Amino acid sequence: MIIVKYKTALQQYLKKLPSSFNKVGFVPTMGALHEGHISLIHLAKKEHDVVVCSIFVNPTQFNNSNDLAKYPVTIEADIEKLTQAGCDFLFLPAVDEMYPPNETNKHYELGYIETILEGFYRPGHFQGVCIIVDKLLALVQPHTLFLGRKDYQQCMVIQKMMTTAHPNIHLTIGDTIREKDGLAMSSRNMRLNATERLQALKIIEALQYIQQQIKPGNVTLLKKQATLFLENNGYKVDYIEIAAASTLQPVLEWDAKVPLVALVAAYLNEVRLIDNIILKSVG
Ligand code: PAF
Repeated sequence: MIIVKYKTALQQYLKKLPSSFNKVGFVPTMGALHEGHISLIHLAKKEHDVVVCSIFVNPTQFNNSNDLAKYPVTIEADIEKLTQAGCDFLFLPAVDEMYPPNETNKHYELGYIETILEGFYRPGHFQGVCIIVDKLLALVQPHTLFLGRKDYQQCMVIQKMMTTAHPNIHLTIGDTIREKDGLAMSSRNMRLNATERLQALKIIEALQYIQQQIKPGNVTLLKKQATLFLENNGYKVDYIEIAAASTLQPVLEWDAKVPLVALVAAYLNEVRLIDNIILKSVG
């Protein structure tokens, strides 16, 4: 695997690829890699000649400086995992390389999708995500961008940004990869102590409860029950929402036809966990 720190160097490498190697798959990450990220590298390798991964802890998407300061960094282990997975290029820029001093950040018209859930609880977060992903896509110019479904709303936001900024790049969304006990893999899981790691399971339990109990009609009580369940297990809940899977519009009365997604964000002490589950339609 070739490790590149500078934009110009990466561009030169990619430009020099033989024309038979021109289908590039791109997996952007913030490092602290786990099986979820590696599954995207494997997915990218299946149908692409070249796989590029980036590791960049993007400061503009952190609305909480403590979260940024405590974001796990495990670069040696990340390089080992990417090498094992057969990744071809790792782009590892410094902050100044992606945010040159005096450069003004773009603003993206994201509409409704930016105002709800993660957008509401983390103001500015999705602008920061779009700024960096737009810059990385412009640099790598991949055939396909690979993202994980664990960040459900992020996938929708990036897709929206891409429709105008990168209409020719495909988006492939990989499944959420879970630990054996059901916890969604996340770099932030590294921050959980042993007690919190056990409590963390309650997130998927709450989502599975919704998945099992959902019936046509009003879903407000179900949301309340799931919220109470997490609160009784030591969580501070930002939201539990049941929404239309294709728009993220909250659903209050379900007609059993519209495909739904249940989404959660909740704090276990200092660590904020998010997860989601698709609720199959029955009609
Ligand atoms: O999901 C992430 O790790 C980040 O939000 C991303 C897409 C790499 C942008 O910084």
